[in-house]
Amino acid sequence: MSSRTLPDFPWDSLRPARARAAQHPGGVVDLSIGTPVDPTPDVLRTALAAGSDAPGYPTALGTTDLRLAAANWLQRRLGVTVADPLGDTPSVIPTVGSKELVALLPTLLGLQGGTVVIPEVAYPTYEVGAVVAGLRVLRSDVPPEDVADPVLVWLNSPGNPHGRVLTPDELRAWVAWGRARGVPVVADECYVELGWDVVPTSVLHPAVAGGSHEGLLAVHSLSKQSTAAGYRAGLLSGDPALVTRVWEARRHLGLLVPGPVQAAAAAALGDDAHVELARSRYGARRERLRAAVEAWGGRIEHSEAGLYLWTTRDEDCWTTVDRLADLGIVVAPGSFYGPAGQRHVRMALTATDERVDAAVQRLTA
Ligand SMILES: Cc1ncc(COP(=O)(O)O)c(C=O)c1O
Repeated sequence: MSSRTLPDFPWDSLRPARARAAQHPGGVVDLSIGTPVDPTPDVLRTALAAGSDAPGYPTALGTTDLRLAAANWLQRRLGVTVADPLGDTPSVIPTVGSKELVALLPTLLGLQGGTVVIPEVAYPTYEVGAVVAGLRVLRSDVPPEDVADPVLVWLNSPGNPHGRVLTPDELRAWVAWGRARGVPVVADECYVELGWDVVPTSVLHPAVAGGSHEGLLAVHSLSKQSTAAGYRAGLLSGDPALVTRVWEARRHLGLLVPGPVQAAAAAALGDDAHVELARSRYGARRERLRAAVEAWGGRIEHSEAGLYLWTTRDEDCWTTVDRLADLGIVVAPGSFYGPAGQRHVRMALTATDERVDAAVQRLTA
């Protein structure tokens, strides 16, 4: 496959805005990429260090500790009961990050030909993963009436870039649609711990899934909730038949989560205090930034959960990007996420308090 079949890597086109922002005497406030900046909590670092004697290969299945910690976390935080996590067909396995899983899931499931349905405005890796597997893409926020040969649905709730949360009714409609067609429905829930105005519901919750997880998968990540994007730790859970397909493929392909990272992930999933701390930090930054963006004339849409303010000034996104670059603030243009994002920008809450204060001061000056 030629790499030309992949979409352009969009972040390169932000270079001029970055250069413009860098001229601000108070320095750049980078709200573009959304990479966590606070220290990784000790609960992970201690477990990582304690697990650092790792002469042997980790398994694709993951350690017993991690699978149990994951199942407990799903139960405790999301009200989700997975099938026996230690059963012969696993209901939860660790993944190397979730970006890597998103990019490779169609391949790992062995999908050959057909259409992957992704959200209208979406994290770009859903499309990349379809393209890598030679599949077509359809963007839709509602179950489509008419789609040729659907093979996979990606949901993302809370969503990137807009922080939209799908209601249980919306989730149920997708689940019914997928099950009626035998199409797996996969929900990327990497921001599920970061609900602000609503409590996000997992696609695996019994109110959505009913009595079984048939045809359903959920993707979770420690990157944001545990301030550990550098650890590359994620989870795949749900229908044991689908999880097993991915597990079997990875037994051949590798993509093994390093043992020390699995130890850190197990510790993180057993501890709620550090997640609450991250939430309170992001929540406070969100309040300050939101008020400043509105005072500056931005209208914030959705953003009821997740790590972003989805903002418009009813103009082309690049005009807004440039306006903000003049204030030394770098944001992501909504067009990175699909044609329907053309009049919005995405502002990440992942900056230090000091940088958020600088942004607030500039936006309200
Ligand atoms: C919707 C969504 N999915 C997945 C990821 C990947 O996160 P990670 O690979 O760090 O788990 C991101 C990262 O920003 C994201 O926004």
